[in-house]
Amino acid sequence: MDTSKSKRHSEPLISVQALNACRILVINGKGGSGKTTVSTNLASWFAQRGDTTALLDADPQGSSEYWVRLRSPELPEIYGFKIDSTLRTTMSFQLRAPKSTKWLITDAPPGLSGMALDDMVSNHDLILILVMSSEMDIRASARFIGDLLLTQNMRRKRRPIGVIANRIKQQTNSWGSLQRFLESLRIPYPAKLRDTQNYVKAYAEGKGIINYTQQTHASDNADWKTLIDWIEAQNRERHWMK
Ligand SMILES: Nc1ncnc2c1ncn2[C@@H]1O[C@H](COP(=O)(O)OP(=O)(O)OP(=O)(O)O)[C@@H](O)[C@H]1O
Ligand SMILES: [Mg+2]
Repeated sequence: MDTSKSKRHSEPLISVQALNACRILVINGKGGSGKTTVSTNLASWFAQRGDTTALLDADPQGSSEYWVRLRSPELPEIYGFKIDSTLRTTMSFQLRAPKSTKWLITDAPPGLSGMALDDMVSNHDLILILVMSSEMDIRASARFIGDLLLTQNMRRKRRPIGVIANRIKQQTNSWGSLQRFLESLRIPYPAKLRDTQNYVKAYAEGKGIINYTQQTHASDNADWKTLIDWIEAQNRERHWMK
């Protein structure tokens, strides 16, 4: 029985700017690298352990919002919402989420740059960048990370960035060059996610890897545990810095 659902529905919604939440932006320099996969898995993980979790779909494709609607009522609730295309700024004060939200995850649209990228960065505390291990993806990501670091919002207040290597099949030369690039910028890469149909199936079922306890998902769950531990360490540091 989902008692939390009725409780949260009666909860007031407040501006995302006023939330006492860790606001995570999931983004990449090239489309199709796994933003929605990571956003939905993060939301599943936090919701599963009972934290109030909101998933903001900022991509007009609406893939995260669709996934929230797919979820069985038996699963812990995730507050799904999207950016209204009539809003002028991406993180407008008009965006509201439940007051007790502990984790706000934003699934960003692909191909952001300039003002739109700067705008997306504002009102987020932590940035996760998805990178796949192809040479093309890595080059696009290196450029994107450079642009991101130069946005006004990042120069004004440097948020922690973590790079997630997605769809990793094997160690490649190109991954080695990305690692060197990240190390030169002191950007951590807290997770590598396998290329597996487990992610495709979980999305189609409105679930995340955390919802599968079988041995077939053990190594993926271990990857997620590493990533969640890193995010929590960043979040603790954020509170400590306040
Ligand atoms: N680790 C993985 N293993 C296997 N398939 C994956 C993995 N990560 C993502 N995929 C699949 O790759 C496709 C693209 O992933 P996803 O939709 O998460 O990317 P995206 O960055 O959100 O794309 P877009 O830019 O179109 O929004 C999807 O079909 C997804 O199921
Ligand atoms: Mg997507």
